[in-house]
Amino acid sequence: MRNELYSAGIAITGSGSGIPSGRLTNQDLAQMVETSDEWITTRTGIKQRCLTASGESLKTIGAQAAHQALAMAQVAPEEIDLLILATSTPDDLFGSAVSIQTAIGANHAVAFDLTAACSGFVFGLVNSAQFIRTGAYQKVLLIGADVLSRWVDWSDRSTCILFGDGAGAVVIEATSAERDRLLGFELCSDGQLSHTLNLGYHGSEKTIVDSIEVNQGHYQPITMKGKEVYRFAVEKVPEVISKALFHADLTSEDVDWLLLHQANQRIMDAVAQRLSLPPERVISNLANFGNTSAGSIPLALDEAQRAGKLQSGDIIAMSGFGAGLTWGSAIVQWQIEP
Ligand code: UT7
Repeated sequence: MRNELYSAGIAITGSGSGIPSGRLTNQDLAQMVETSDEWITTRTGIKQRCLTASGESLKTIGAQAAHQALAMAQVAPEEIDLLILATSTPDDLFGSAVSIQTAIGANHAVAFDLTAACSGFVFGLVNSAQFIRTGAYQKVLLIGADVLSRWVDWSDRSTCILFGDGAGAVVIEATSAERDRLLGFELCSDGQLSHTLNLGYHGSEKTIVDSIEVNQGHYQPITMKGKEVYRFAVEKVPEVISKALFHADLTSEDVDWLLLHQANQRIMDAVAQRLSLPPERVISNLANFGNTSAGSIPLALDEAQRAGKLQSGDIIAMSGFGAGLTWGSAIVQWQIEP
């Protein structure tokens, strides 16, 4: 399907991480809510998460990840044509991509936010590819970043144990159709299940003049029906990966690395099992970061790259899933040079 329709290929040429400086361990959480390190570890695989500390923000961790990705790709900020920030927790609801653009000096780029919750990085990767394949842009900086600590109900033990803050970034560059490294993808959404995971706006009517009313209020902390989201992930993620592999003319036997949104180790293990992939093929850094939403896939990708795990030519099956509900998969061949 791919190379017949499109003239240009894409390749990831650099990656980076933006890790906030605060740490919150399971032991710390056990002092806040009725939980234990043992419960959190066995049910999720998480041991600690990172939190943005004073002076840090979505902008600072996003910019940190961007700087590292640009350095690895040996691309100057002014060379970037397009900057996409996948996030659900912007510093400014009007968009935070532009503040990162300014912070890193990507002065020739157009920058915008993309919201698809924990699927944001995969959706952003596919969006980036479309702009490159049409010939519109050559070099894209894609950042996945979230500061969920702002929106967690720290008294709700069923959600507060899961989430952390973090950012990851990749540089994506145009390459020839023969060297295309995005081999296949599949994106999905289903609003009928939106009630299972929300960071919703709640307002009330307020009269501003005569009988004219507006609705004003605030966003409320995250609510989640954990079991339903768990079941959805274990069912839909193997399915969407299989479809993306089919588009790439590959099967799960060809997959070198399974790189899932880092939500729960049990989800990763179950998906790997359904795809008949052994545990050593699963990239996981969940224990140290928890669920960082749009940041989780690029953070884990960058860690694996810097640890020397990823070899040129490796096939990586990525999948993001979460609120919306949204889910998607991208099959990428690792080749850090364009
Ligand atoms: O990025 C977004 C995607 N989100 C996800 O992927 C989340 C998917 N869901 C999950 O990861 C899991 O459902 C959770 C980790 C959130 C929960 O694990 P679970 O095995 O589904 O537990 P549960 O909700 O069924 O709760 C089991 C028990 C309950 O007690 P009872 O009713 O059996 O007495 C809970 O009240 O565990 C209790 N519980 C806790 N106990 C200690 C719930 N949270 C905690 C806690 N510590 N933090």
